[in-house]
Amino acid sequence: MEKICVIGLGYIGLPMAGLLANTGFYVHGVDNNVKVVETINSGHPHIQEPGLDILVKAAIQNGNLAAALQPVPADVYIIAVPSLITANHLPDLKHIQEAVHAIADHLAPGNLITLETTVPVGTTEKIAGWISELRRDLIIFQPPTPAAAEKQIFLAHCPERVLPGQILKELVENDRIIGGINQLSGKKAQIFYQKFVGGSLLLTDARTAELTKLAENCFRDVNIALANELSYLCDKFGVSVWELIKLANHHPRVNIHQPGPGVGGQCITKDPWFIIDAAPDESIIIRTAREVNNNRPNYVAARIKETAAGFKDPVIACLGLGYKADTGDLRESPALKIVQQLVRDNAGKILVVEPHLESLPECLAHLHSVQLVNLKEGLQQADLIILLVNHNAFKNIDHELLKKKAVIDTRGMFL
Ligand SMILES: NC(=O)c1ccc[n+]([C@@H]2O[C@H](COP(=O)([O-])OP(=O)(O)OC[C@H]3O[C@@H](n4cnc5c(N)ncnc54)[C@H](O)[C@@H]3O)[C@@H](O)[C@H]2O)c1
Repeated sequence: MEKICVIGLGYIGLPMAGLLANTGFYVHGVDNNVKVVETINSGHPHIQEPGLDILVKAAIQNGNLAAALQPVPADVYIIAVPSLITANHLPDLKHIQEAVHAIADHLAPGNLITLETTVPVGTTEKIAGWISELRRDLIIFQPPTPAAAEKQIFLAHCPERVLPGQILKELVENDRIIGGINQLSGKKAQIFYQKFVGGSLLLTDARTAELTKLAENCFRDVNIALANELSYLCDKFGVSVWELIKLANHHPRVNIHQPGPGVGGQCITKDPWFIIDAAPDESIIIRTAREVNNNRPNYVAARIKETAAGFKDPVIACLGLGYKADTGDLRESPALKIVQQLVRDNAGKILVVEPHLESLPECLAHLHSVQLVNLKEGLQQADLIILLVNHNAFKNIDHELLKKKAVIDTRGMFL
């Protein structure tokens, strides 16, 4: 049985590990967080993702998945640790570097390493450089030759494109880009992914794969920024942005995105900076989009504060805290930023309605002006209702009740 070592067991690595362990591979999962390792070994995922609990439980029970703090010798290494940016928006690859150092000792000729993390252009080459330094007995860079075959290892960037909430489906169905450090590496990675991916496996070089993934996230960011900018224009001209976009999108070649309270999640908020850092003069639109979307929560919070000022002792129900629909994932959540800003501004008493959370996050839990309530309580008690996240749970709110309250709908859900 082929042995796979997955480094980083988060939203990407754990579903991948669970899927592989249920598809005929033995998977050794590695995470440097003891709690994560213990939780997985007890048969439970530490993250919420539909279907993942069944997969992890089955894999732990049948012995095809085990989690640990350290890697072991394997046939394939999949790196799925986070890439980061610093407070000044500079790339920080420390987790990837740590992961490479951790696997280096175990590498053996014939091994394949795939990097799934989104990274700045040139990172795959950097990884090859680190490995060459750490393991002078192995060959990774040069185009493979028959003479070097017994020393060769293979490396490819295979960026992940899955959508949280549909990860297990998309891991199998999405088309994937495979950017080999050389042609044979790409081919080896393609053969590996073919064993469990139904989508097309598109071969290219590592740099193209890196930039393609970054371009995909920039596309989303820039288009959301345009929609947000249109909403400012619509406010100025007294036009409904929702009607405007609906009408414009009847044009056969126009597809304007939806405005919102800002952009969240750890990908779109981070990845454009990898391009801006490397090529500031060539990424004017990308930088501007990032700034427009990054400022959006401040604008929304200011509008809420203005409206709240019309009430004596306002009670504000904030519907949703997750970074997007139907998740309680708070990473870079604009809704959370808005609530925090309202607290800083003493805008009123805040009732958070987040059906995907059982308790408030630490940054809000100790504040007596903020309370987690259910939807019914929030709607009844509030003077202002602020729709921050378009969770399914908010779809059927009684419009008659909304008419009696001040409402700010940042998602166009109550139209
Ligand atoms: N989450 C997504 O929707 C998504 C989608 C596409 C691409 N990506 C890419 O995948 C990367 C990982 O995303 P994620 O959502 O799985 O992150 P995550 O934070 O959910 O999980 C990462 C895991 O790696 C572990 N880790 C960190 N450093 C480690 C190390 N040196 N050794 C072992 N474990 C280590 C952490 O403890 C954590 O459990 C992102 O940075 C992004 O570039 C994510």
